Amino acid sequence: MNIRAESKSSACPGRLAGTLTACRSLTIGAQGMPTITLDNVTKYYKYNRKQRKEHGGKRFEMGVQDIDLTIKQGDFVFVVGSSGAGKSTLLDLITGRLRPDRGTVRLDQRDLSKLIPWSHNRMAILFGKVQQEHSLIRKMTVAENLMVAAQVGRRRFESRESMEQRVVKVLGLVGMQGAGLKHPVEMSVGECRRVELARALINSPPILVLDEITANLDDENIWDIFQLLMEVNHRGTTVIMATHASRYVNILRRRVVTLVDGRIFGDVRKGKYGDVV
Ligand SMILES: Nc1ncnc2c1ncn2[C@@H]1O[C@H](COP(=O)(O)OP(=O)(O)OP(=O)(O)O)[C@@H](O)[C@H]1O
Ligand SMILES: [Mg+2]
Repeated sequence: MNIRAESKSSACPGRLAGTLTACRSLTIGAQGMPTITLDNVTKYYKYNRKQRKEHGGKRFEMGVQDIDLTIKQGDFVFVVGSSGAGKSTLLDLITGRLRPDRGTVRLDQRDLSKLIPWSHNRMAILFGKVQQEHSLIRKMTVAENLMVAAQVGRRRFESRESMEQRVVKVLGLVGMQGAGLKHPVEMSVGECRRVELARALINSPPILVLDEITANLDDENIWDIFQLLMEVNHRGTTVIMATHASRYVNILRRRVVTLVDGRIFGDVRKGKYGDVV
């Protein structure tokens, strides 16, 4: 674990203090951790006729272009860049939410676009995702939201009690113990983000893909979440995270992939925000 972050944590234990012990009891990365490879990937957002009119005849918006990227098992990757640079597009291509218009996204040797039709649930287990837009089901309580995810990753012969225990455990991990009966509207934006992180972690995925998860959180919460992420990464989980939190990127010194206008402008191991070589 990063020494500077550790020293920060001892100075400022935060709301998640003590939960890392619980983290150890989750079997992180139980499904194996594939290498992600993007070969010459391009994604456009095509406009329909009405949208074309609205955008002065423009036929498409460029999402990302000519992306070559390999993310090995256990990597911790920050994806940075200004607003509109293509971070969310890149993450959505990695998780299969979007399909490339050109190029291929592979998990080990398998083309992701060919995996999706037969294995929606399998993908959900492989990738723990927090999308940029909020995605909790509003009519359900926090516990019910997490149970939906737990069901998707239900283990062989797993009882309902065992799934409920996973819900309780993972809520504790993100410092939201006791929030199980709340509805999303009864929580702050930051609390909802933490529940979404819990949902991403509940099936111990080998790959975590997080889009701006620290937006709307205070410093103490951000540190707690980074510590949790470093712990799961230390246990072998790949973490891919789009963020604008430059201060934390600079302290943690992990791999930094910088996007500019949809292209990779820099890819630096132990990098800082803005490093391109
Ligand atoms: N659904 C869409 N339809 C049309 N264009 C889109 C769509 N989604 C994204 N884009 C465009 O694709 C480009 C990349 O967007 P993307 O959301 O990936 O950027 P980002 O780096 O995640 O930005 P932010 O930091 O604001 O979240 C932008 O020019 C954006 O306008
Ligand atoms: Mg985005």
